[in-house]
Amino acid sequence: QFMDELMGIRQKERQLAQRFNIKRCIIVSGDSDRQLKVIGTMGEEVNQLLQRLLPEGDSIIAVMGGHTMEHVANNLTNKLASKRQLLFVPARGGVGESVAIQANTIASQMAEHTGGKFRSLFVPEQVSERTYEPLLKEPSIQEVLGIIRQANVVIHSVGDAVSMAHRRNMSEDQIKVLRQREAVGEAFGYFFDKDGNVVYRIPRIGLQIGELANMEIILAVAGGASKATAIEAYMKIAPKRTCLITDEGAANLILKK
Ligand code: G3H
Repeated sequence: QFMDELMGIRQKERQLAQRFNIKRCIIVSGDSDRQLKVIGTMGEEVNQLLQRLLPEGDSIIAVMGGHTMEHVANNLTNKLASKRQLLFVPARGGVGESVAIQANTIASQMAEHTGGKFRSLFVPEQVSERTYEPLLKEPSIQEVLGIIRQANVVIHSVGDAVSMAHRRNMSEDQIKVLRQREAVGEAFGYFFDKDGNVVYRIPRIGLQIGELANMEIILAVAGGASKATAIEAYMKIAPKRTCLITDEGAANLILKK
Protein backbone atom coordinates (compact mmCIF):
# COMPACT_ATOMS: atom_id res chain seq x y z
CA GLN A 1 0.00 0.00 0.00
CA PHE A 2 2.90 2.31 0.79
CA MET A 3 4.28 1.73 -2.72
CA ASP A 4 0.87 2.48 -4.26
CA GLU A 5 0.73 5.73 -2.33
CA LEU A 6 4.24 6.66 -3.39
CA MET A 7 3.48 5.89 -7.04
CA GLY A 8 0.37 8.05 -6.73
CA ILE A 9 2.39 10.96 -5.39
CA ARG A 10 5.09 10.61 -8.09
CA GLN A 11 2.38 10.74 -10.73
CA LYS A 12 0.83 13.82 -9.15
CA GLU A 13 4.25 15.49 -9.11
CA ARG A 14 4.55 15.00 -12.85
CA GLN A 15 1.00 16.21 -13.45
CA LEU A 16 1.53 19.32 -11.37
CA ALA A 17 4.87 20.18 -13.00
CA GLN A 18 3.21 19.76 -16.38
CA ARG A 19 0.18 21.82 -15.43
CA PHE A 20 2.40 24.68 -14.23
CA ASN A 21 4.93 24.16 -17.01
CA ILE A 22 7.82 24.23 -14.53
CA LYS A 23 10.98 22.17 -14.20
CA ARG A 24 10.07 20.00 -11.26
CA CYS A 25 7.54 19.48 -8.54
CA ILE A 26 7.96 17.63 -5.26
CA ILE A 27 4.92 16.73 -3.17
CA VAL A 28 5.24 15.55 0.42
CA SER A 29 2.38 13.65 2.05
CA GLY A 30 0.04 15.42 4.44
CA ASP A 31 -1.26 18.97 4.74
CA SER A 32 0.81 21.67 6.46
CA ASP A 33 -2.39 23.42 7.56
CA ARG A 34 -3.20 20.43 9.76
CA GLN A 35 0.25 19.19 10.77
CA LEU A 36 3.20 21.44 11.38
CA LYS A 37 5.64 18.59 10.79
CA VAL A 38 4.67 18.54 7.10
CA ILE A 39 6.45 21.90 6.68
CA GLY A 40 9.53 20.27 8.18
CA THR A 41 9.27 17.47 5.64
CA MET A 42 9.17 20.04 2.83
CA GLY A 43 12.33 21.48 4.41
CA GLU A 44 14.03 18.08 4.26
CA GLU A 45 13.12 17.84 0.58
CA VAL A 46 14.68 21.26 -0.01
CA ASN A 47 17.86 20.04 1.69
CA GLN A 48 18.00 16.96 -0.55
CA LEU A 49 17.24 18.93 -3.67
CA LEU A 50 19.98 21.45 -2.90
CA GLN A 51 22.37 18.57 -2.30
CA ARG A 52 21.65 17.35 -5.82
CA LEU A 53 21.47 20.69 -7.62
CA LEU A 54 24.06 22.99 -6.02
CA PRO A 55 27.29 23.20 -8.01
CA GLU A 56 30.64 22.63 -6.32
CA GLY A 57 32.44 25.80 -5.23
CA ASP A 58 30.79 29.13 -4.48
CA SER A 59 27.07 29.69 -4.31
CA ILE A 60 25.16 32.75 -3.20
CA ILE A 61 21.74 31.79 -1.92
CA ALA A 62 19.13 34.53 -1.62
CA VAL A 63 16.33 33.70 0.80
CA MET A 64 12.97 35.15 1.73
CA GLY A 65 11.24 35.16 5.11
CA GLY A 66 8.15 33.49 6.57
CA HIS A 67 7.25 30.44 8.66
CA THR A 68 7.84 28.02 5.80
CA MET A 69 11.33 29.38 5.28
CA GLU A 70 12.00 29.12 9.01
CA HIS A 71 11.32 25.38 8.82
CA VAL A 72 13.38 25.06 5.66
CA ALA A 73 16.31 26.67 7.49
CA ASN A 74 15.98 24.24 10.41
CA ASN A 75 16.19 21.28 8.06
CA LEU A 76 19.32 22.22 6.14
CA THR A 77 22.37 20.17 7.05
CA ASN A 78 26.12 20.74 7.03
CA LYS A 79 26.52 18.10 4.29
CA LEU A 80 25.50 20.84 1.89
CA ALA A 81 28.71 22.71 2.56
CA SER A 82 31.01 19.84 1.63
CA LYS A 83 33.03 20.97 -1.41
CA ARG A 84 30.97 24.14 -1.43
CA GLN A 85 31.24 27.65 -0.06
CA LEU A 86 27.75 28.88 0.70
CA LEU A 87 26.82 32.49 1.32
CA PHE A 88 23.25 33.19 2.41
CA VAL A 89 21.74 36.64 1.91
CA PRO A 90 18.23 37.93 2.56
CA ALA A 91 16.56 38.51 -0.80
CA ARG A 92 14.74 41.55 0.58
CA GLY A 93 14.97 43.85 3.53
CA GLY A 94 12.60 43.49 6.41
CA VAL A 95 12.20 44.40 10.02
CA GLY A 96 8.40 44.58 10.00
CA GLU A 97 7.71 40.98 10.89
CA SER A 98 8.59 39.05 14.02
CA VAL A 99 12.31 38.40 14.20
CA ALA A 100 12.15 34.60 13.83
CA ILE A 101 10.66 34.81 10.35
CA GLN A 102 12.55 37.76 8.89
CA ALA A 103 14.70 37.01 5.86
CA ASN A 104 17.79 38.21 7.79
CA THR A 105 17.18 35.62 10.50
CA ILE A 106 16.49 32.88 7.96
CA ALA A 107 19.78 33.64 6.18
CA SER A 108 21.74 33.49 9.45
CA GLN A 109 19.98 30.26 10.50
CA MET A 110 20.75 28.64 7.18
CA ALA A 111 24.39 29.62 7.53
CA GLU A 112 24.47 28.16 11.02
CA HIS A 113 22.90 24.85 10.00
CA THR A 114 25.11 24.37 6.96
CA GLY A 115 28.33 25.90 8.24
CA GLY A 116 28.10 28.59 5.58
CA LYS A 117 28.33 32.38 5.82
CA PHE A 118 25.64 35.03 5.78
CA ARG A 119 25.14 38.73 5.22
CA SER A 120 22.35 40.90 6.59
CA LEU A 121 20.35 43.66 5.02
CA PHE A 122 19.30 46.11 7.70
CA VAL A 123 16.55 48.04 6.01
CA PRO A 124 12.85 48.17 6.82
CA GLU A 125 10.63 45.96 4.71
CA GLN A 126 8.17 48.71 3.93
CA VAL A 127 9.54 52.20 3.44
CA SER A 128 8.02 55.31 1.91
CA GLU A 129 9.28 56.36 -1.53
CA ARG A 130 11.00 59.33 0.11
CA THR A 131 13.05 57.13 2.42
CA TYR A 132 13.62 54.43 -0.16
CA GLU A 133 15.70 56.44 -2.64
CA PRO A 134 18.43 57.72 -0.26
CA LEU A 135 18.57 54.35 1.54
CA LEU A 136 19.35 52.66 -1.75
CA LYS A 137 22.41 54.90 -2.12
CA GLU A 138 23.95 53.89 1.23
CA PRO A 139 27.25 52.10 0.49
CA SER A 140 26.65 49.33 3.07
CA ILE A 141 23.25 48.62 1.51
CA GLN A 142 24.63 48.87 -2.02
CA GLU A 143 27.22 46.22 -1.13
CA VAL A 144 24.64 43.69 0.05
CA LEU A 145 22.35 44.52 -2.87
CA GLY A 146 25.30 43.76 -5.14
CA ILE A 147 25.67 40.35 -3.50
CA ILE A 148 21.95 39.67 -3.90
CA ARG A 149 22.22 40.47 -7.60
CA GLN A 150 25.00 37.89 -7.95
CA ALA A 151 22.97 35.14 -6.30
CA ASN A 152 22.71 31.92 -8.29
CA VAL A 153 20.06 30.38 -6.05
CA VAL A 154 16.84 31.71 -4.57
CA ILE A 155 14.57 29.99 -2.06
CA HIS A 156 11.20 31.55 -1.31
CA SER A 157 7.66 30.81 -0.23
CA VAL A 158 4.27 31.93 -1.49
CA GLY A 159 1.58 33.32 0.81
CA ASP A 160 -2.14 33.89 0.76
CA ALA A 161 -2.73 37.57 -0.15
CA VAL A 162 -4.95 38.76 2.66
CA SER A 163 -3.15 36.95 5.48
CA MET A 164 0.16 38.30 4.18
CA ALA A 165 -1.25 41.83 4.01
CA HIS A 166 -2.30 41.61 7.66
CA ARG A 167 1.03 40.16 8.69
CA ARG A 168 2.87 42.92 6.88
CA ASN A 169 0.75 45.50 8.74
CA MET A 170 -0.77 46.97 5.61
CA SER A 171 -3.49 49.56 6.24
CA GLU A 172 -7.21 48.83 5.91
CA ASP A 173 -7.24 51.02 2.79
CA GLN A 174 -4.45 49.01 1.20
CA ILE A 175 -6.23 45.77 2.08
CA LYS A 176 -9.40 47.15 0.50
CA VAL A 177 -7.48 47.79 -2.72
CA LEU A 178 -6.14 44.23 -2.62
CA ARG A 179 -9.68 42.88 -2.25
CA GLN A 180 -11.00 45.08 -5.06
CA ARG A 181 -8.24 43.88 -7.35
CA GLU A 182 -8.94 40.29 -6.28
CA ALA A 183 -5.44 39.57 -5.05
CA VAL A 184 -5.09 35.92 -4.03
CA GLY A 185 -1.38 35.42 -3.53
CA GLU A 186 1.86 37.09 -2.52
CA ALA A 187 5.53 36.38 -3.15
CA PHE A 188 8.55 38.73 -2.95
CA GLY A 189 6.25 41.58 -1.88
CA TYR A 190 4.24 41.30 -5.12
CA PHE A 191 0.53 40.57 -4.86
CA PHE A 192 -1.17 38.86 -7.78
CA ASP A 193 -4.67 37.84 -8.84
CA LYS A 194 -5.71 34.32 -9.85
CA ASP A 195 -4.45 34.86 -13.40
CA GLY A 196 -1.01 35.79 -12.14
CA ASN A 197 -1.30 39.52 -12.89
CA VAL A 198 0.63 41.65 -10.42
CA VAL A 199 -2.07 43.85 -8.90
CA TYR A 200 -0.08 45.48 -6.11
CA ARG A 201 3.53 45.87 -5.18
CA ILE A 202 5.12 46.96 -1.94
CA PRO A 203 8.12 49.15 -2.77
CA ARG A 204 10.86 47.17 -1.12
CA ILE A 205 14.60 46.96 -1.27
CA GLY A 206 16.18 43.82 -2.68
CA LEU A 207 15.46 41.21 -5.29
CA GLN A 208 12.82 42.17 -7.84
CA ILE A 209 10.74 39.55 -9.56
CA GLY A 210 12.33 40.23 -12.98
CA GLU A 211 15.76 39.41 -11.56
CA LEU A 212 14.69 35.82 -10.91
CA ALA A 213 15.38 35.17 -14.57
CA ASN A 214 19.14 35.23 -13.86
CA MET A 215 19.00 32.54 -11.19
CA GLU A 216 20.19 29.01 -11.91
CA ILE A 217 18.22 27.38 -9.10
CA ILE A 218 14.81 28.64 -8.03
CA LEU A 219 13.01 26.81 -5.24
CA ALA A 220 9.44 27.79 -4.30
CA VAL A 221 8.31 26.14 -1.07
CA ALA A 222 4.65 26.40 -0.10
CA GLY A 223 2.05 23.94 1.10
CA GLY A 224 -1.29 23.62 2.85
CA ALA A 225 -4.78 23.57 1.35
CA SER A 226 -5.16 27.24 2.33
CA LYS A 227 -2.36 28.19 -0.07
CA ALA A 228 -3.64 26.21 -3.10
CA THR A 229 -5.11 29.26 -4.89
CA ALA A 230 -2.07 31.40 -4.11
CA ILE A 231 0.35 28.76 -5.40
CA GLU A 232 -1.67 28.24 -8.56
CA ALA A 233 -1.73 31.99 -9.23
CA TYR A 234 1.99 32.51 -8.60
CA MET A 235 2.88 29.59 -10.86
CA LYS A 236 1.42 31.56 -13.76
CA ILE A 237 4.27 34.04 -13.47
CA ALA A 238 6.95 31.80 -11.96
CA PRO A 239 10.06 31.29 -14.10
CA LYS A 240 9.94 27.94 -15.92
CA ARG A 241 13.10 26.91 -14.10
CA THR A 242 11.23 26.92 -10.78
CA CYS A 243 11.08 23.75 -8.66
CA LEU A 244 7.97 23.71 -6.49
CA ILE A 245 8.10 21.89 -3.17
CA THR A 246 4.57 21.49 -1.84
CA ASP A 247 2.31 19.06 0.02
CA GLU A 248 -0.74 16.94 -0.77
CA GLY A 249 -3.00 19.45 0.98
CA ALA A 250 -2.27 22.03 -1.74
CA ALA A 251 -1.56 19.64 -4.63
CA ASN A 252 -4.78 17.63 -4.33
CA LEU A 253 -6.91 20.77 -4.36
CA ILE A 254 -5.11 22.16 -7.41
CA LEU A 255 -5.26 18.88 -9.34
CA LYS A 256 -8.95 18.45 -8.58
CA LYS A 257 -9.85 21.54 -10.63
O1 G3H B 1 5.65 35.51 0.73
C1 G3H B 1 5.19 34.55 1.30
C2 G3H B 1 5.32 34.38 2.71
O2 G3H B 1 6.62 34.60 3.12
C3 G3H B 1 4.81 33.05 3.19
O3 G3H B 1 4.87 33.03 4.56
O4 G3H B 1 5.61 30.74 5.05
O5 G3H B 1 4.70 32.20 6.81
O6 G3H B 1 3.20 31.27 5.06
P1 G3H B 1 4.58 31.73 5.41
